[in-house]
Amino acid sequence: MQTGTTISEVRNAIGLARSAAKKIGCVPTMGALHAGHLSLIEKAARHSDFVVVTIFVNPTQFGPDEDYDSYPRTLENDLQLCERAGANFVFHPQNETIYSDNPQLKLCVGELARRWEGDSRPGHFDGVATIVAKLFNIVQPNVAMFGQKDYQQLAIIKALCRDLNFPIEIVGCPTIREEDGLALSSRNAYLSPSERKQATVLYRALCLAEKLIQDDQLSLKQIRQKMLEVLVSEPDVVPEYATIVDPDDLQMLEQRQQKMVALIAAKVGETRLIDNREIFQTTS
Ligand code: PAF
Repeated sequence: MQTGTTISEVRNAIGLARSAAKKIGCVPTMGALHAGHLSLIEKAARHSDFVVVTIFVNPTQFGPDEDYDSYPRTLENDLQLCERAGANFVFHPQNETIYSDNPQLKLCVGELARRWEGDSRPGHFDGVATIVAKLFNIVQPNVAMFGQKDYQQLAIIKALCRDLNFPIEIVGCPTIREEDGLALSSRNAYLSPSERKQATVLYRALCLAEKLIQDDQLSLKQIRQKMLEVLVSEPDVVPEYATIVDPDDLQMLEQRQQKMVALIAAKVGETRLIDNREIFQTTS
């Protein structure tokens, strides 16, 4: 496995791979890799011939009061994990390689970025879209992998490729969970042992939503209320939203439809966690 911090290093390596007719796969990450990221790298290795993992804690997607400074940075361990998972190149640039001193351009995502996560984290998705577009321009992959855990991010990246004509196949990969259901996230590292136990409530609320939808007795409004009730049953959990939306435009649904997504964001102590579950209506 090769590594590099400059754009010319990664472009040279990719150029050689492309001239050998290799299909290029890309897995953008912010590091602090866990089994969820490794599943993306392994999938990229199955879908392509040369896998580029990017590790960059992107400052423009963090709000002023968010955890940019304290975000876990574990490069040495990440490099070992990337190699084991089948990466061919890890690009881990410094800030100044990615952003000029006085950048004049950034992407501004429309409505899709304003609800849910966008409402709680203004500007977050503009930062995500800008860095992902920059990484796509640097790597020019044929295929790129993103976790479904960040459901809204995945929808926005698909819109980015469609609206800006990036000829890149975007593959959404299933959320990897601990045995008790907690979705893997680099931010789980912030949880105290007691918060870690309480954090499973997000998954429990999602499973309840699925069961209630399939039982077909309550309205979606009542089910949202039930999700909130489960979340607040844990003393250190403060929900931000618990909703059921259309999987394409992420608009809140009032009526059931064949495919829906339940989305949750909640603070567990000081740690903000998100999770989601696709739900299919099985009864008519
Ligand atoms: O999901 C992430 O880790 C980040 O938002 C991404 C896509 C790597 C952009 O910085």
